[in-house]
Amino acid sequence: MTWVDHNIWHIWGRSVLGAAVLGMGVLLTAAVAAAGSVDKTPFGKTQDGKAVDLYTLTNDKGASVKFIAYGGIITAINVPDRWGNLGNIVLGFKELADYESKNPYFGALIGRYGNRIGSAKFSLDGTQYQLAANNGPNSLHGGKKGFDKVVWAVEPLTGGSGAAARLSYTSKDGEEGYPGALTVGVTYTLTDDNELRIDYEATTDKPTVVNLTSHSYFNLAGDGVGGIGDHILTINADRYTPVDATLIPTGQLASVSGTPFDFRQGMPIGARIRANDEQMIFGRGYDHNFVLNRSGSGLSFAARAYDPRSGRIMEISTTEPGIQFYSGNFLDSTLVGAAGQQYRQTDGFCLETQHFPDSPNKPSFPTTVLKPGETLKSTTIHKFSTDAS
Ligand code: BGC
Repeated sequence: MTWVDHNIWHIWGRSVLGAAVLGMGVLLTAAVAAAGSVDKTPFGKTQDGKAVDLYTLTNDKGASVKFIAYGGIITAINVPDRWGNLGNIVLGFKELADYESKNPYFGALIGRYGNRIGSAKFSLDGTQYQLAANNGPNSLHGGKKGFDKVVWAVEPLTGGSGAAARLSYTSKDGEEGYPGALTVGVTYTLTDDNELRIDYEATTDKPTVVNLTSHSYFNLAGDGVGGIGDHILTINADRYTPVDATLIPTGQLASVSGTPFDFRQGMPIGARIRANDEQMIFGRGYDHNFVLNRSGSGLSFAARAYDPRSGRIMEISTTEPGIQFYSGNFLDSTLVGAAGQQYRQTDGFCLETQHFPDSPNKPSFPTTVLKPGETLKSTTIHKFSTDAS
C-alpha cells in the first residue's frame, strides 16, 4: 500500500495495467505489481476555516472509496457493474459547503448516538442527561453537531493488503450533552476483494452511551440513475422494532411475518413501500430498525441488496445487533448531487448497522452503555460483487 500526498507529488501512487505489443502482433498484458494506495487532495475549508482533505482508497482491482475528513463522509464508492464498468454507487454533493449546510447525513460517520433517543434525554447511574432535540421532540444522530459535522484526524495505514486509513476524534466530556470524554477511532479499509470494511473503536473516561454507524445512501444502479424501488433486498431478521409516530421504538420486538418488513426472502424495495400499514405511514416508507438473526458475537450476515439492471450486489455483515433500513423517504429535489442531478424520495437507501434506537431508555434492548476501562469494538463489512462474478 502506498501513501500519496497530492500536495507533494501530484501523481497517482497505484500501479496500472501495462500493455505491450511485442513482435508479430502478439499482445501481452502484464499486471505489474498491483498494490492499493491512499491518495490525498484538498477539498476546501469549512466555514470556520478548517482545511478539509479528500482521501481516495484504491485497491488492486481499481475500485475506490473516497471520503473527506469532515464528518468522515464517504463521498463516492466506485465499484464495477456486471460488464466491469466502474460507477459511483453512493449519493453525494460536489462541494464542502453543501455537506456543511444541507447534508441529510450522506455518507457520514454518525455519533455519539446513531438514530434516535426519545424526548432527547436519558438517565445513567441516576443522573439525567439532556440532549438537543433536533428531530421533533427527539435527538437524532448525535445532536446539533454530531460526528458527521466535525473534522476528523486521518492517518493512512500502510502494510496491509488493499488500502486503509484511520480516522480519529475525541469528543469532550459534555459535548452535545453526553457524559465522558469519548475517544473514537474508525478505520476504513478497501480490500482487494472489493470489500469496504469499517472498524469502530471507542473508549471513555466516564460511563456514557454510544452507538456508532455510517450513513451512506446507496443506489447500486449508480448515483443519479433513478430510484431504488427495483433493488432486491434481503434482511436477515425475523423481527423488527415497531415505532411510534415520532419514530421511537415502542419497545416491542415484532415478527416481520405477514408484514411489509419481511425481507427474509429477497423482495423489491418498492413492492410494499406504499402498503396501507401504520408503520409504513409513520416512516413515510421504510425507516425502521431490524433485529438481526445472529449467533455469537462475531461478524454475521445482515443484508444483501441486488440491482438487476447493473448486476451489482452489496452484502453486509456486521457485529452489531440491528440494522436501520431507511428508504430515503425524506430526500427532496432541493438536494442536488455532484453531477447536477436532483435527488428525490427513494433515490437512495441506507442500511445502518447499529444498536437499536432509544436503547438508553429501553432496558430490554442490548445495552449501549460504555464504561471506563472498556473498549467498544464494532465491525461492518460491505462486500461488493456482481451477478457476473
Ligand atoms: C433516519 C431517518 C432520517 C435520516 C436522515 C436516518 O438514519 O432513520 O429518519 O430522516 O437518517 O438522513
